[in-house]
Amino acid sequence: MSRNNIQPPQGDLKDLAGLPKRVNLGEQKKRISGQVEAGKAHIEGDMELGKKLVTALRSSGDFQRATQGFHSYPARLHPEAARLMLEAIPGKDLADPFCGGGTILVEALIAGRHVYASDLNPIATLVSTARTALLSPEQLERLGKELDDIHLKAAQSLDEKRNVHLPPTILKYKSWYKSNCFNELACLFDAIQNYESELKPLFQAVFSSLVVKYSLRASDTSNKVVYIPRKNGTVLRAFKEKSKEYVTQLAELQTLVPPNTDAAQITLADARHPDFAKVDTIITSPPYPGTYDYLPLQQLRSAWFELNMRENQEIGSRRAFKQVKAAYERWLKDTDAWVAASAKALITGGHLAVVVGEGVQSGKTLRVAKPTIQAAEKAGLKFVTSASVDRHDPATKQKKIEYILVFEKV
Ligand SMILES: C[S@@+](CC[C@H](N)C(=O)[O-])C[C@H]1O[C@@H](n2cnc3c(N)ncnc32)[C@H](O)[C@@H]1O
Repeated sequence: MSRNNIQPPQGDLKDLAGLPKRVNLGEQKKRISGQVEAGKAHIEGDMELGKKLVTALRSSGDFQRATQGFHSYPARLHPEAARLMLEAIPGKDLADPFCGGGTILVEALIAGRHVYASDLNPIATLVSTARTALLSPEQLERLGKELDDIHLKAAQSLDEKRNVHLPPTILKYKSWYKSNCFNELACLFDAIQNYESELKPLFQAVFSSLVVKYSLRASDTSNKVVYIPRKNGTVLRAFKEKSKEYVTQLAELQTLVPPNTDAAQITLADARHPDFAKVDTIITSPPYPGTYDYLPLQQLRSAWFELNMRENQEIGSRRAFKQVKAAYERWLKDTDAWVAASAKALITGGHLAVVVGEGVQSGKTLRVAKPTIQAAEKAGLKFVTSASVDRHDPATKQKKIEYILVFEKV
């Protein structure tokens, strides 16, 4: 089976239940943003800024702060890299049109910025919303209580073997779970769906953080089947622990964000047509060409939540790179389109910073810096700096360069 065989969310995976153990259903390469050895660095343009950005690119190690550790998301930026970029590019606002799991948004709130963000992926906006929630002490206390309540209700449903109502989409994916884990997730899901609260998206995010971990999938970025024995009650216990951890992380976030900082405005939108107002700073990390299939990777979560994934609008997807030349040309056009849209959203004197890395397909390196610089110049932005660090990709044993490119609207 090919490495790209990530099943689309509509797919019925029932037939996979009969497969032998540990079947490789296609593994995605791990992106290495900000997490690897210090490679050779290169700076062009503004040296002082470039040096700061090289330090950002070289961020590594464990960095747990506020909600940064809550919920996995593919190709997450290193939080310290986000913090250092915000420090190097001062401003009042921060917009991120490819917000993913919200790493930059959390750091921007802590820096007291007005935050605007979007992504095409509803799981990205769910996770970002949960990671940036600004709550009053009363709301925070209520969140803890309501999560406990949900846990209790789910445990009761399970004990009483109550019939719970589930979306037909997830029933098609039942074979991705051991039955005890599925039943516990089902009871939690039902308890959340029936809970009247404005905090419901936060409950859903806690639930979402368990959906892949307690399935037969090896990880968020791999469809490899792994059978890990799970005792009855494991998922319910994990929900309780995760809830507690999340409330603690959110409490820390509230203490770090300066008073009077507005809540982040997060919307579901295509970066080629963003809907945020004029801003002074955009810092973002678009999909690297051919590196991930962000939307299909969320197939289990989208099945639980019955989400429409709009897969054909995803930029730079790995599956499109089965035809390398055509897909790369498409990526170049998409880069022109989103950079032009971002340039439009900037005020004069505002900055766009792009974290982007090369892809490797069929032994060929897909260049990203020159086309992004050209796209910015076409959109009327002035080149300020390019900072880059060489990465070694263990999967292809090739060098891939990762960049932070900064432009100014003049
Ligand atoms: C490199 S990831 C961003 C990761 C993020 N910086 C973080 O730290 O979690 C790229 C994101 O682009 C999103 N994406 C892909 N195509 C898009 C499009 N046309 N419009 C908006 N977002 C898109 C993907 O869903 C993914 O979340």
